[in-house]
Amino acid sequence: MTDKLEGKVAIITGASSGIGEATAIALAAAGATVAIAARRAERLNALAERIQATGGKALPIVTDVTDETQVKNLVETAIAELGRLDILVNNAGVAFLGTIADGNPADWRRSFDLNVLGVLYATHAALPFFKAQQSGHIVNISSVAGRTVRAGIGVYNATKWGVNALSEALRQEVYKDNIRVTIIEPGLVKTEINDQITDPVAKQRIEERLKALTPLQPEDIAGAIVYAVSQPPHVNVNEILIRPTGQEQ
Ligand SMILES: NC(=O)c1ccc[n+]([C@@H]2O[C@H](COP(=O)([O-])OP(=O)(O)OC[C@H]3O[C@@H](n4cnc5c(N)ncnc54)[C@H](OP(=O)(O)O)[C@@H]3O)[C@@H](O)[C@H]2O)c1
Repeated sequence: MTDKLEGKVAIITGASSGIGEATAIALAAAGATVAIAARRAERLNALAERIQATGGKALPIVTDVTDETQVKNLVETAIAELGRLDILVNNAGVAFLGTIADGNPADWRRSFDLNVLGVLYATHAALPFFKAQQSGHIVNISSVAGRTVRAGIGVYNATKWGVNALSEALRQEVYKDNIRVTIIEPGLVKTEINDQITDPVAKQRIEERLKALTPLQPEDIAGAIVYAVSQPPHVNVNEILIRPTGQEQ
């Protein structure tokens, strides 16, 4: 445990697994109180107990990030229960890989609902509080797929390019209110994200790519997030792109 984020309150969406779970643990270990959100209550409760067992403070709030009302409730509950809000990590996301020709429109809708609209709902709910206190930090988890387009990833690319675009527009809109915006762009990270891919060709392709290198671990990304949110108030870390050493694109 360190105290560099002592007194700060953070919301992390998609905290029930992967990058979000590691980020909640890392922010709590740095002294922040964390409101952890996702749909799976049992995972959130287990994570809260794990954080509390090491002396950290965590509040699970079951939330479907595609539901605007639930996201508003997440932000309001975190502030009511924990007293303030300093950091919002928009991490919940899906990656339905596959070609556009073979794609499933239901997967496309879920991708945009979660990866783009979910980020906007949470940001929109947090901004009035951040503006009123004249400080705040929004961390949006994009991807290397938000910077580099590849055949077979087009819809995921579109959502993450969307995240990068809205993040930069947001930065220009809120910097005068002392609100910071950071985009995190991971390459291949070993998480559960590929379990949901419905296209068998895309699933095999990503599994082969993962086997061909040593992927990043969720903790590698969590460390970058802690770095970004621990800088002094005049430092706005806008973008961090992290690939595994063995990843070409
Ligand atoms: N893994 C990679 O290689 C990689 C690379 C670049 C970027 N990323 C990005 O990193 C972020 C986290 O992904 P991950 O790799 O850690 O995947 P993951 O282990 O599958 O985690 C995804 C998280 O999102 C949550 N989630 C899914 N649908 C949700 C919904 N409707 N409402 C609330 N939460 C929801 C899941 O929890 P519930 O199911 O409990 O709701 C889970 O906690 C995503 O934005 C992803 O695009 C991942």
